[in-house]
Amino acid sequence: MTYLVNVLYIVAFALFILGLSGLTGPKTAVRGNWIAATGMGIAVVATLIAVRNTAAINWILIIAGLAIGVVLGVPPAKKTKMTAMPQLVALFNGVGGGTVALIAWAEFIETDGFSHFRPDQQPTVALVVGSLFAAIVGSVSFWGSLVAFLKLQESIPKNVEKGLIRSAKLFQAANIALLIVAVGVAVYIGLNAAPGNETSGWWIVAVLVAAGVMGLFVVFPIGGADMPVVISLLNALTGLSAAAAGLALNNTAMIVAGMIVGASGSILTNLMAVAMNRSIPAIVFGSFGGDSAAAAGPGGEQGTVKATSAADAAIQMAYANQVIVVPGYGLAVAQAQHAVKEMGDMLESKGVEVKYAIHPVAGRMPGHMNVLLAEADVEYDAMKEMDDINGEFNRTDVTLVIGANDVTNPAARNDPSSPIHGMPILNVDQSKSVIVLKRSMSSGYAGIDNPLFFAGQTSMLFGDAKKSVTEVIEELKAL
Ligand code: TAP
Repeated sequence: MTYLVNVLYIVAFALFILGLSGLTGPKTAVRGNWIAATGMGIAVVATLIAVRNTAAINWILIIAGLAIGVVLGVPPAKKTKMTAMPQLVALFNGVGGGTVALIAWAEFIETDGFSHFRPDQQPTVALVVGSLFAAIVGSVSFWGSLVAFLKLQESIPKNVEKGLIRSAKLFQAANIALLIVAVGVAVYIGLNAAPGNETSGWWIVAVLVAAGVMGLFVVFPIGGADMPVVISLLNALTGLSAAAAGLALNNTAMIVAGMIVGASGSILTNLMAVAMNRSIPAIVFGSFGGDSAAAAGPGGEQGTVKATSAADAAIQMAYANQVIVVPGYGLAVAQAQHAVKEMGDMLESKGVEVKYAIHPVAGRMPGHMNVLLAEADVEYDAMKEMDDINGEFNRTDVTLVIGANDVTNPAARNDPSSPIHGMPILNVDQSKSVIVLKRSMSSGYAGIDNPLFFAGQTSMLFGDAKKSVTEVIEELKAL
């Protein structure tokens, strides 16, 4: 049976890696997900086979746990809209971290503070250090992810959130103290771990509480544009804590799956931080995004805003050589992707070259725009990454910004005092004419003004993006 379990684990790991490689492009992402999920199913079966004869095994609890997980996990995963995916990811990630923290707690209780061991356990460094690491990181990840969920769900009132962001320095000081307490108590437990040497259960509770409060305090002051990076970081931490719990439980599947999540999460975190020109410590220990200037109204301090009509927009684009479409979060909210594809096809039929410029953090999750446009059958070749398209804006007749805001904000490039200064943006302001589709002059996710809307070559087509694009299509038909 050990042989069978090992073979099943190897098959599962191969499927994890194959699945992960499928997630590198929208064409193969769905298949990649299914492959990785199949691998996880095989790993669960292999683990159940491996532990089937363990004295402590309780099949009723295991089946009840699986049933509850399916009932709580499947409906939201199916029903959640694309726009709410980051919240769901934050919540699922938190559940993973919480589970790992509970495993570490259970190991501590069962061994009375690592003082006696089951026959399959040894008082090894792996068990003790693995459990303590998992307790700290799992607890940080659980509580941090819950705050991230509430923030993304916009369940925290804006004025409360701004207050939290303003108190960043206070939280940082508290976090240093909490880290010292959590690690200090964990070291104390570790040094006392010896056969026959019981440690009170309150010590591990102290570790879990200190780490949990630290998780809350780390995410409380993080605002606006930094949120996606933080979720990715928490995801990586959950992976690492799962790997540590795997070491403690001597479970190869947990170690491998946890390391894959930890490694891929770390790479994604780094890629996103680079895309926003932010260092990871600056994101965790600094904050920006929620307390900056409120949006100016039309004709506010920044200058005047020109409004345009669907008919004007249609004429400009129909007579252009090249049109670049810049999708953003508003495209997802309006679900305008199919209308955009139809408009693009009509323009191409009139001899206009149409390209789609994709910013790495446009929308609310990595690859958000690619997924939406792919759903509407926009050609992959027409979707251009930021670095590939940025040189083309100055040769472009019309750029159509659809529900994008922060990712086009020239202040990130030009204004050192801007909270998003240094974040790479799409150089939309360099094109000859810019038409922005949005409902109002409201700010985007980072909560700051966008000088692009006040620029001489920009005109605003106010309204829901799907409605506006549909009107443009009607006008194009009439031309
Ligand atoms: P945002 O800067 O958030 O701007 C979106 C704009 O869409 C808003 O200004 C809004 O203006 C408009 N909008 C909303 N609903 C609309 C509708 N139905 N029709 C037309 N317009 C609509 O979006 P972005 O440019 O895509 O930038 C993304 C931001 O989110 C960045 O700050 C990024 O850091 C952050 N973020 C990214 C991610 C990832 S990983 N992609 C995750 C979380 C956060 P109106 O209200 O005036 O219509």
